[in-house]
Amino acid sequence: MKHLLSTENLSIQDAIGILDTAEEMATVGDREVKKLPALRGRTVVNLFFEDSTRTRISFEAAAKRLSADVINFAAKGSSVSKGESLKDTAQTLAAMGADAVVIRHWASGAPHRLAATDWIDAAIINAGDGTHEHPTQALLDAFTMRRHWSKLNGTASTGSALKGMRVAIAGDVLHSRVARSNVWLLRTLGADVTLVAPPTLLPIGVESWPCKVSYDLDSTLEAGVDAMMMLRVQGERMNASFFPSTREYSRRWGFDDTRLKALDELGLKDTIIMHPGPMNRGLEISSSAADSPRSTVLDQVRNGVSVRMAALYLLLSGDSREAAPSLSSAPSSSKENN
Ligand code: ASP
Ligand code: CP
Repeated sequence: MKHLLSTENLSIQDAIGILDTAEEMATVGDREVKKLPALRGRTVVNLFFEDSTRTRISFEAAAKRLSADVINFAAKGSSVSKGESLKDTAQTLAAMGADAVVIRHWASGAPHRLAATDWIDAAIINAGDGTHEHPTQALLDAFTMRRHWSKLNGTASTGSALKGMRVAIAGDVLHSRVARSNVWLLRTLGADVTLVAPPTLLPIGVESWPCKVSYDLDSTLEAGVDAMMMLRVQGERMNASFFPSTREYSRRWGFDDTRLKALDELGLKDTIIMHPGPMNRGLEISSSAADSPRSTVLDQVRNGVSVRMAALYLLLSGDSREAAPSLSSAPSSSKENN
């Protein structure tokens, strides 16, 4: 694996290899000295053409925990605002010796373009491209679900997939790169996925995706769900009105207090509530749901660092299958517009 652009073509071996390596990386986060020498001398560039809190910061933390040098580049405040193209930006980064480029871009396909050209010879990681994909988000979601599923089934999480787990993904699927990456990855890992959305927020061709589709959140919950993932209503990508009102949206498709109570009434005592963040509290998710013991929102953020360490490690250290050999020798608690 030279790049991480999408989950659509990720094999089950590669997916489980990343998740297992992330489990090893998570042990580093528990040490007093949260650092490994694995990527010393390597340079990771965070190239962000769109806003981000979690993804940008966790890639920075991940690279630093692996001892890489990190350069943060935000399009706002850079020469992109003077009209500099993606090609010239990439070539500038190449001249500075970037070994990996973590790119978030408003244009779907921008990371693929960087990977396909000879503008820069670096590992490219897609940190979210337009409405297309967000593979490391799906991997951290799968990591979070796998830990939950293994605990429930009393099995080790390392080496395992998500066979039989029932996952519902609800909300603004149309604009969600998180939904796309999750559907592909969860299919590969053997989960049973249902998308729930108003018809106006489902993409054309969704019938051919490897999942079920429903317009009704309550009947989906009644059928039984192990993980309920709520998606943000992405107002910044909407150029029309996709639902009658915010009140109507949260009543029909939001995970509100009534639905939170319904989980108990339905006997779904182990169901987790997920959200990639940032959340619109009171719209797609109520505060009680977001802050309830069922919520994995902050676990997802925490797990994001381990998963991104795994991705950087596997792409930059050579062998994409071998699980983090340097971990054992690490110090422990010694404490588009081109
Ligand atoms: N942060 C995620 C993304 O960038 C989800 C969202 O913004 O709703 O795709
Ligand atoms: N989940 C996610 O990608 O968050 P950010 O947009 O804050 O990076």
